[in-house]
Amino acid sequence: MREVAEAWRRERRRIAFVPTMGYLHDGHRRLLEEGRRRGERLVLSVFVNPTQFGPNEDFERYPRDLARDAALAETAGTDVLFAPTGAEMYPFGAPATRVAVAGLTQTLCGRARPGHFDGVTTVVAKLLHIVKPHVALFGEKDFQQLVVVRRMVQDLDLDVDVEIAGIETVREPDGLAMSSRNVYLDPSDREATLSLSRGIAWAREAVAAGERRAAKIAEVVRRSIEAHPQNEIDYVTIVDPETLADVEEIRGEARLVLAVRVRGTRLIDNGALRAC
Ligand code: PAJ
Repeated sequence: MREVAEAWRRERRRIAFVPTMGYLHDGHRRLLEEGRRRGERLVLSVFVNPTQFGPNEDFERYPRDLARDAALAETAGTDVLFAPTGAEMYPFGAPATRVAVAGLTQTLCGRARPGHFDGVTTVVAKLLHIVKPHVALFGEKDFQQLVVVRRMVQDLDLDVDVEIAGIETVREPDGLAMSSRNVYLDPSDREATLSLSRGIAWAREAVAAGERRAAKIAEVVRRSIEAHPQNEIDYVTIVDPETLADVEEIRGEARLVLAVRVRGTRLIDNGALRAC
């Protein structure tokens, strides 16, 4: 991968990169299509990164299907599928050196998943050094991850000088945000899972109708999610899209962010709220 990337750089080819953990869906496909548009060479990585999973999380059972991923990658115009093994990425076992973004990772998902974002930033830093992209594409679906990765790249003066591009969340026709983990969901819980995207849609309407009190909006969304007994809320809050700090009053752009366990499966979603 390094040799290919270095050769492309010598030829002054613009490299686009989409890092994933595989089991690709149409959200990943959208990232690849955008990468194809923005770069002359397109790299997809598939690596279920052990360092971002907690001890009681789903690393072992995370869905994997590299043959299917390769087929999808090809139809999306991928030039190189980079799928390293765990031993190739971490030849000395768990890395002693880690990249950690303070502050931004101590809130929201970072609270429920201690160490998760350190695993993400460590592997993304490694991948950026290996693939040397000019642009790397991330989904807004994982909004905190996007903000954290952006901050890491700003802080570290990475040699590759990469642009981090955020791509809007791709949803199922009924509104559920696509995720590799959706295979864990029971079809009978569909209505319960839809309370997240419906909550976001409702919040948008409330803001359009003039509501500016963040706590008020979050409370209504929280109640509509809790109306489904299989839902267990981790957080429902409205934050500043750059600092991730809670906002009281919606001015300019804010972000409604949610994390909910539906019978044990943790779902996240988010949406922009704009007050004009
Ligand atoms: P993964 O969950 O496979 O997601 C890979 C990329 O696809 C992420 O940038 C994610 O935000 C984006 N994505 C997922 N679902 C999406 C959707 N419905 N619409 C748009 N984009 C979507 O995120 C990871 O892997 C890992 O943490 C990784 C960054 C690869 C580091 O290991």
